[in-house]
Amino acid sequence: MTRLDRVEQTRSRFTGPPLTPRTAVIWSVLRAELDRRGDAELTVLDVGGGTGGFAVPLAQAGHRVTVVDASPDALAALTRRAAEAGVGDRVHAVQGDGDALAGLVEPGSVDLVLCHAVLEVVDDPTPVVEALVTALRPGGAASVLVAGRAAAVLGRAMNGNLGSAATLAADPAGSTGPRDTLRRRYDAERAATLLRAAGLTVEEIHGVRVLADLLPAAVADGAPAALLELERALAAQPPYRDLAAQLHLFARRPTGNQGAGPVPPSV
Ligand SMILES: C[S@@+](CC[C@H](N)C(=O)[O-])C[C@H]1O[C@@H](n2cnc3c(N)ncnc32)[C@H](O)[C@@H]1O
Repeated sequence: MTRLDRVEQTRSRFTGPPLTPRTAVIWSVLRAELDRRGDAELTVLDVGGGTGGFAVPLAQAGHRVTVVDASPDALAALTRRAAEAGVGDRVHAVQGDGDALAGLVEPGSVDLVLCHAVLEVVDDPTPVVEALVTALRPGGAASVLVAGRAAAVLGRAMNGNLGSAATLAADPAGSTGPRDTLRRRYDAERAATLLRAAGLTVEEIHGVRVLADLLPAAVADGAPAALLELERALAAQPPYRDLAAQLHLFARRPTGNQGAGPVPPSV
Protein backbone atom coordinates (compact mmCIF):
# COMPACT_ATOMS: atom_id res chain seq x y z
CA MET A 1 0.00 0.00 0.00
CA THR A 2 1.41 3.41 -0.93
CA ARG A 3 1.57 6.33 1.49
CA LEU A 4 -1.28 8.05 -0.37
CA ASP A 5 -3.45 4.94 -0.15
CA ARG A 6 -2.78 4.80 3.56
CA VAL A 7 -3.60 8.49 4.03
CA GLU A 8 -6.81 8.09 2.02
CA GLN A 9 -7.77 5.03 4.04
CA THR A 10 -7.14 6.88 7.30
CA ARG A 11 -8.93 10.00 6.10
CA SER A 12 -11.97 8.01 5.16
CA ARG A 13 -12.08 6.74 8.78
CA PHE A 14 -11.73 10.28 10.14
CA THR A 15 -14.95 11.36 11.76
CA GLY A 16 -13.36 14.27 13.61
CA PRO A 17 -13.03 14.70 17.33
CA PRO A 18 -16.11 15.10 19.52
CA LEU A 19 -16.88 18.81 19.65
CA THR A 20 -17.19 20.45 23.04
CA PRO A 21 -17.25 24.09 24.17
CA ARG A 22 -13.48 23.69 24.72
CA THR A 23 -12.76 22.61 21.19
CA ALA A 24 -15.57 23.47 18.73
CA VAL A 25 -14.52 27.02 17.86
CA ILE A 26 -10.84 26.05 17.50
CA TRP A 27 -11.67 23.12 15.23
CA SER A 28 -13.85 25.30 13.02
CA VAL A 29 -10.91 27.69 12.53
CA LEU A 30 -8.46 24.82 11.93
CA ARG A 31 -10.80 23.03 9.53
CA ALA A 32 -11.04 26.19 7.42
CA GLU A 33 -7.24 26.25 7.15
CA LEU A 34 -7.07 22.51 6.34
CA ASP A 35 -9.77 22.97 3.69
CA ARG A 36 -7.86 25.92 2.26
CA ARG A 37 -4.83 23.65 1.83
CA GLY A 38 -6.89 21.02 -0.03
CA ASP A 39 -5.42 17.51 -0.10
CA ALA A 40 -1.91 18.56 0.93
CA GLU A 41 -0.32 16.52 3.70
CA LEU A 42 0.67 19.25 6.13
CA THR A 43 3.63 19.36 8.47
CA VAL A 44 2.13 20.27 11.84
CA LEU A 45 3.98 21.20 15.02
CA ASP A 46 2.12 21.17 18.34
CA VAL A 47 4.19 22.94 20.98
CA GLY A 48 3.14 21.89 24.48
CA GLY A 49 0.71 19.53 22.78
CA GLY A 50 0.40 17.38 25.89
CA THR A 51 -1.46 14.11 25.41
CA GLY A 52 -2.46 14.83 21.81
CA GLY A 53 -6.03 16.12 21.95
CA PHE A 54 -5.36 18.00 18.71
CA ALA A 55 -2.32 16.13 17.40
CA VAL A 56 -4.04 12.75 17.07
CA PRO A 57 -7.12 13.99 15.16
CA LEU A 58 -4.83 16.00 12.86
CA ALA A 59 -2.79 12.87 12.18
CA GLN A 60 -6.04 10.97 11.56
CA ALA A 61 -6.88 13.63 8.99
CA GLY A 62 -3.72 12.62 7.11
CA HIS A 63 -1.17 15.14 8.36
CA ARG A 64 2.24 14.62 9.98
CA VAL A 65 2.37 15.99 13.49
CA THR A 66 5.35 16.60 15.75
CA VAL A 67 4.50 17.26 19.38
CA VAL A 68 7.19 19.02 21.40
CA ASP A 69 6.40 18.93 25.09
CA ALA A 70 8.38 19.30 28.27
CA SER A 71 6.58 16.43 30.02
CA PRO A 72 7.69 12.83 29.40
CA ASP A 73 4.46 11.57 31.00
CA ALA A 74 2.33 13.60 28.60
CA LEU A 75 4.39 12.34 25.66
CA ALA A 76 4.03 8.71 26.80
CA ALA A 77 0.23 9.18 26.93
CA LEU A 78 0.35 10.84 23.50
CA THR A 79 2.30 7.92 22.02
CA ARG A 80 -0.22 5.40 23.42
CA ARG A 81 -3.16 7.47 22.16
CA ALA A 82 -1.66 7.79 18.68
CA ALA A 83 -0.98 4.04 18.50
CA GLU A 84 -4.53 3.22 19.61
CA ALA A 85 -5.87 5.55 16.92
CA GLY A 86 -3.74 3.79 14.28
CA VAL A 87 -1.62 6.86 13.53
CA GLY A 88 1.50 6.09 15.55
CA ASP A 89 3.60 6.43 12.40
CA ARG A 90 2.35 9.97 11.78
CA VAL A 91 2.78 11.40 15.27
CA HIS A 92 6.30 12.19 16.41
CA ALA A 93 6.77 12.88 20.14
CA VAL A 94 9.76 15.01 21.12
CA GLN A 95 10.67 16.00 24.63
CA GLY A 96 11.88 19.58 24.63
CA ASP A 97 11.34 23.19 25.43
CA GLY A 98 9.08 25.48 23.45
CA ASP A 99 11.72 28.19 23.25
CA ALA A 100 14.41 25.85 21.93
CA LEU A 101 12.67 24.51 18.85
CA ALA A 102 15.51 25.38 16.50
CA GLY A 103 17.46 22.26 17.49
CA LEU A 104 14.36 20.05 17.28
CA VAL A 105 12.48 21.25 14.20
CA GLU A 106 13.87 22.40 10.85
CA PRO A 107 13.41 26.20 10.62
CA GLY A 108 10.88 27.27 7.98
CA SER A 109 9.51 23.73 7.60
CA VAL A 110 6.14 23.84 9.35
CA ASP A 111 2.77 24.52 7.68
CA LEU A 112 0.70 24.78 10.84
CA VAL A 113 1.89 25.33 14.39
CA LEU A 114 -0.32 24.88 17.44
CA CYS A 115 0.51 26.42 20.80
CA HIS A 116 -2.49 25.88 23.06
CA ALA A 117 -2.59 26.74 26.76
CA VAL A 118 1.19 27.08 26.95
CA LEU A 119 2.10 30.78 26.83
CA GLU A 120 0.46 31.33 30.22
CA VAL A 121 2.68 28.75 31.93
CA VAL A 122 6.14 29.26 30.41
CA ASP A 123 8.80 31.46 32.02
CA ASP A 124 8.80 33.91 29.11
CA PRO A 125 6.31 33.76 26.22
CA THR A 126 8.32 35.96 23.85
CA PRO A 127 11.06 33.45 22.91
CA VAL A 128 8.42 30.72 22.56
CA VAL A 129 6.43 32.80 20.06
CA GLU A 130 9.63 33.74 18.24
CA ALA A 131 10.54 30.05 18.02
CA LEU A 132 7.10 29.24 16.58
CA VAL A 133 7.58 31.87 13.89
CA THR A 134 11.04 30.54 13.02
CA ALA A 135 9.64 27.03 12.65
CA LEU A 136 6.88 28.20 10.28
CA ARG A 137 7.41 28.41 6.57
CA PRO A 138 6.41 31.78 5.04
CA GLY A 139 2.62 31.64 4.64
CA GLY A 140 2.34 29.02 7.40
CA ALA A 141 -0.29 29.48 10.10
CA ALA A 142 -0.26 29.58 13.91
CA SER A 143 -3.11 28.54 16.21
CA VAL A 144 -2.49 30.07 19.62
CA LEU A 145 -4.74 29.61 22.64
CA VAL A 146 -4.21 31.67 25.79
CA ALA A 147 -6.00 32.14 29.10
CA GLY A 148 -8.33 35.15 29.21
CA ARG A 149 -7.92 37.67 31.97
CA ALA A 150 -11.47 39.09 32.10
CA ALA A 151 -13.09 35.69 32.68
CA ALA A 152 -10.70 34.99 35.54
CA VAL A 153 -11.48 38.36 37.18
CA LEU A 154 -15.24 37.79 36.87
CA GLY A 155 -14.97 34.18 38.03
CA ARG A 156 -13.10 35.14 41.19
CA ALA A 157 -15.49 38.00 41.94
CA MET A 158 -18.54 35.77 41.47
CA ASN A 159 -17.01 33.25 43.88
CA GLY A 160 -16.66 36.00 46.46
CA ASN A 161 -12.87 36.37 46.09
CA LEU A 162 -12.96 40.10 45.56
CA GLY A 163 -9.38 40.70 46.67
CA SER A 164 -8.09 38.11 44.25
CA ALA A 165 -10.27 39.60 41.47
CA ALA A 166 -8.85 43.07 42.15
CA THR A 167 -5.26 41.79 42.15
CA LEU A 168 -5.77 39.93 38.91
CA ALA A 169 -7.39 42.93 37.25
CA ALA A 170 -4.57 45.26 38.31
CA ASP A 171 -1.56 43.01 37.79
CA PRO A 172 0.20 43.84 34.50
CA ALA A 173 0.67 40.13 33.75
CA GLY A 174 -2.85 39.14 34.83
CA SER A 175 -1.73 36.83 37.62
CA THR A 176 -2.52 36.82 41.34
CA GLY A 177 1.11 36.09 42.21
CA PRO A 178 3.45 33.16 42.88
CA ARG A 179 0.66 30.87 44.12
CA ASP A 180 -1.39 31.37 40.97
CA THR A 181 -1.38 28.31 38.69
CA LEU A 182 -0.88 30.62 35.69
CA ARG A 183 1.91 33.14 35.28
CA ARG A 184 -0.12 35.43 33.09
CA ARG A 185 -3.46 35.93 31.35
CA TYR A 186 -4.31 37.96 28.30
CA ASP A 187 -6.86 40.26 26.80
CA ALA A 188 -7.27 40.07 23.04
CA GLU A 189 -5.16 43.10 22.23
CA ARG A 190 -2.26 42.11 24.46
CA ALA A 191 -2.16 38.60 22.98
CA ALA A 192 -2.33 39.99 19.44
CA THR A 193 0.49 42.43 20.24
CA LEU A 194 2.68 39.53 21.41
CA LEU A 195 2.16 37.67 18.14
CA ARG A 196 2.58 40.75 15.96
CA ALA A 197 5.82 41.69 17.71
CA ALA A 198 7.23 38.32 16.60
CA GLY A 199 6.26 39.04 12.99
CA LEU A 200 2.92 37.24 12.66
CA THR A 201 -0.18 38.71 11.04
CA VAL A 202 -3.18 38.09 13.28
CA GLU A 203 -6.11 37.05 11.09
CA GLU A 204 -8.80 36.00 13.58
CA ILE A 205 -9.47 36.14 17.29
CA HIS A 206 -12.21 34.07 18.94
CA GLY A 207 -13.35 33.53 22.49
CA VAL A 208 -13.41 29.91 23.68
CA ARG A 209 -15.83 29.08 26.51
CA VAL A 210 -17.63 32.41 26.56
CA LEU A 211 -20.50 30.92 28.57
CA ALA A 212 -19.62 27.31 29.33
CA ASP A 213 -17.88 27.98 32.65
CA LEU A 214 -20.56 30.41 33.84
CA LEU A 215 -23.57 28.12 33.45
CA PRO A 216 -24.89 25.74 36.07
CA ALA A 217 -23.85 22.19 35.13
CA ALA A 218 -27.52 21.19 34.75
CA VAL A 219 -27.99 23.78 32.01
CA ALA A 220 -24.73 22.94 30.21
CA ASP A 221 -25.34 19.19 30.43
CA GLY A 222 -29.04 19.48 29.64
CA ALA A 223 -28.68 21.39 26.37
CA PRO A 224 -25.21 20.65 24.95
CA ALA A 225 -26.16 21.33 21.33
CA ALA A 226 -27.77 24.68 22.16
CA LEU A 227 -24.73 25.65 24.23
CA LEU A 228 -22.35 24.77 21.39
CA GLU A 229 -24.44 26.80 18.95
CA LEU A 230 -24.46 29.81 21.27
CA GLU A 231 -20.71 29.51 21.93
CA ARG A 232 -20.12 29.53 18.17
CA ALA A 233 -22.43 32.51 17.67
CA LEU A 234 -20.73 34.61 20.36
CA ALA A 235 -17.11 33.56 19.82
CA ALA A 236 -16.14 36.27 17.35
CA GLN A 237 -18.27 39.08 18.78
CA PRO A 238 -16.89 41.58 21.25
CA PRO A 239 -17.81 42.10 24.04
CA TYR A 240 -18.77 38.41 24.49
CA ARG A 241 -15.51 37.21 22.91
CA ASP A 242 -13.46 39.19 25.39
CA LEU A 243 -15.13 37.57 28.40
CA ALA A 244 -14.20 34.04 27.32
CA ALA A 245 -12.12 31.77 29.52
CA GLN A 246 -9.63 31.42 26.65
CA LEU A 247 -8.76 33.45 23.59
CA HIS A 248 -7.88 31.75 20.33
CA LEU A 249 -5.71 33.66 17.88
CA PHE A 250 -5.16 32.47 14.35
CA ALA A 251 -2.15 34.13 12.76
CA ARG A 252 0.10 33.71 9.77
CA ARG A 253 3.77 34.19 8.99
CA PRO A 254 3.76 36.66 6.11
CA THR A 255 5.21 35.59 2.80
CA GLY A 256 8.11 37.74 1.58
CA ASN A 257 5.97 40.35 -0.14
CA GLN A 258 3.57 40.96 2.76
CA GLY A 259 4.22 43.03 5.84
CA ALA A 260 2.66 42.20 9.20
CA GLY A 261 -0.64 43.97 8.66
CA PRO A 262 -3.14 45.43 11.10
CA VAL A 263 -5.77 43.24 12.73
CA PRO A 264 -9.03 43.47 10.74
CA PRO A 265 -11.58 45.95 12.17
CA SER A 266 -13.83 43.22 13.58
CA VAL A 267 -11.00 42.00 15.83
C1 LIG B 1 -2.13 23.09 29.99
S1 LIG B 1 -1.24 21.91 29.09
C2 LIG B 1 -1.89 22.14 27.46
C3 LIG B 1 -1.83 20.88 26.65
C4 LIG B 1 -2.46 21.00 25.27
N1 LIG B 1 -1.76 21.99 24.43
C5 LIG B 1 -3.91 21.33 25.38
O1 LIG B 1 -4.34 22.44 24.99
O2 LIG B 1 -4.67 20.47 25.86
C6 LIG B 1 0.37 22.68 28.93
C7 LIG B 1 1.37 21.78 28.27
O3 LIG B 1 2.53 22.55 28.01
C8 LIG B 1 3.67 21.78 28.37
N2 LIG B 1 4.75 22.74 28.63
C9 LIG B 1 4.86 23.61 29.67
N3 LIG B 1 5.97 24.36 29.55
C10 LIG B 1 6.56 23.99 28.39
C11 LIG B 1 7.71 24.39 27.70
N4 LIG B 1 8.51 25.36 28.18
N5 LIG B 1 8.02 23.78 26.53
C12 LIG B 1 7.22 22.79 26.03
N6 LIG B 1 6.12 22.38 26.64
C13 LIG B 1 5.78 22.95 27.80
C14 LIG B 1 3.22 20.96 29.56
O4 LIG B 1 4.01 19.80 29.75
C15 LIG B 1 1.80 20.62 29.16
O5 LIG B 1 1.72 19.42 28.41
